Amino acid sequence: MKKSIVVANWKMNMGISDAHVLATEVRNGLSGIGSVEVVLCPPSIWLSEVKQIIGNKKISLGAQNMFYEPEGAYTGEISPTMIKEVADYVIIGHSERREYFGETDHDVNEKTISALRAGLIPIICVGERKEKNNIVEPVKELREALEGIPKKHFKDIIIAYEPVWAIGTGENAEAEYVAKVCNKLREFVDAETAIIYGGSVKSSNVLEYAKRPEIDGLLVGGASLRASEFIKLCKDWSDARSLK
Ligand code: PGA
Repeated sequence: MKKSIVVANWKMNMGISDAHVLATEVRNGLSGIGSVEVVLCPPSIWLSEVKQIIGNKKISLGAQNMFYEPEGAYTGEISPTMIKEVADYVIIGHSERREYFGETDHDVNEKTISALRAGLIPIICVGERKEKNNIVEPVKELREALEGIPKKHFKDIIIAYEPVWAIGTGENAEAEYVAKVCNKLREFVDAETAIIYGGSVKSSNVLEYAKRPEIDGLLVGGASLRASEFIKLCKDWSDARSLK
């Protein structure tokens, strides 16, 4: 069944004590949450720590990146099989990886295949980088990310539409436009693939997205770093969705 999902991307933030406090507060604040799956993606070095805090509760865990080889002489990298020992999800091809670390569509494709092989759920990020609202770019990125992947795996993939101009800028994309992009992206996956939105999502705009059935969830950066803000955002999303 298609997921309703809120993913927290902590990026390269939080020392160990802050990570501990944030994960604990989020766990406690979301203990009664309903039908939404919440995924915390802390820096990889804190994955085990955060896993111990959230335990086997409703909250899931994801990594922010991975390399596609299962093991070997790749100094500094982390493999999908290692991530699978602690987490179920992995963000792949975030625009910051593409921009600062030179990740290509080919890398994203290799990583997606390798994540699926390891039993991880890839959260594939696509979004226009050059021209605002140019739908051609995310479509191209998605098609290349999915190259050679059999359709039977599409239910195990999450697509995150994240227009680069909206990430960390405070300028979120209009829900109506996001819905249009989700409809377009859906042509390349299937009905069970969750398609989520990311880019300056906060509790004050979450309901705009919750009203659009084309959008299956959210990828939240800055607003996931404050427990009260993130808890409110998740609860509002969950409440709005359970009214449907
Ligand atoms: P933001 O980041 O919510 O801070 O815009 C989203 C993301 O980069 O995943």
